[in-house]
Amino acid sequence: MNFEKRMYDIAKEIMSNKDLKDHGFEHVKRVVNYGKRIILEEKINKTHHLDILAALYFHDIGRVDDSKDDEHGIRSAEIFKQEIHQLFPFLDLKTILFTVNNHQNYEPELGGYPVVSNYKTNSDINILVPEVMWDADRLDLPRIQKFKGNIDPNYLHTNFAKKFANTKEHLKMYE
Ligand SMILES: [Fe+2]
Repeated sequence: MNFEKRMYDIAKEIMSNKDLKDHGFEHVKRVVNYGKRIILEEKINKTHHLDILAALYFHDIGRVDDSKDDEHGIRSAEIFKQEIHQLFPFLDLKTILFTVNNHQNYEPELGGYPVVSNYKTNSDINILVPEVMWDADRLDLPRIQKFKGNIDPNYLHTNFAKKFANTKEHLKMYE
């Protein structure tokens, strides 16, 4: 069973608004690619790969508005819980819900930058998943003009993302 292929097909099919420009399926595909690059560069153990891929593929499925949509993380997590998790019952539901729910929440409970360590987590949450998913999503910010060369490393977690963000190689992808 090729689980990633299934995730790809379902994510593409189930997106709430298929006409989004900045948060459509092209964005999702770039975020998945960044996530895979982080997995590789950070040598992340295989046991975490499918949870990370699920968070990457489904993080924006409930988004309806490109410009402002403060509830889309919550909506996407709800769709995952109600419709998608049953298709992949082996996935770490708690971790994926935390990751998708909070990927757009820039006001962590503990204050400071929106990095995983500033959110309240417990041992149920595999923090590798939000660290990779949030970094991958933030690495795709240069699709929006004001973020070109302008990603704040304080918002990033992994060494690779911190090193790669704003480099020539990175910006070249948006020419
Ligand atoms: Fe996103």
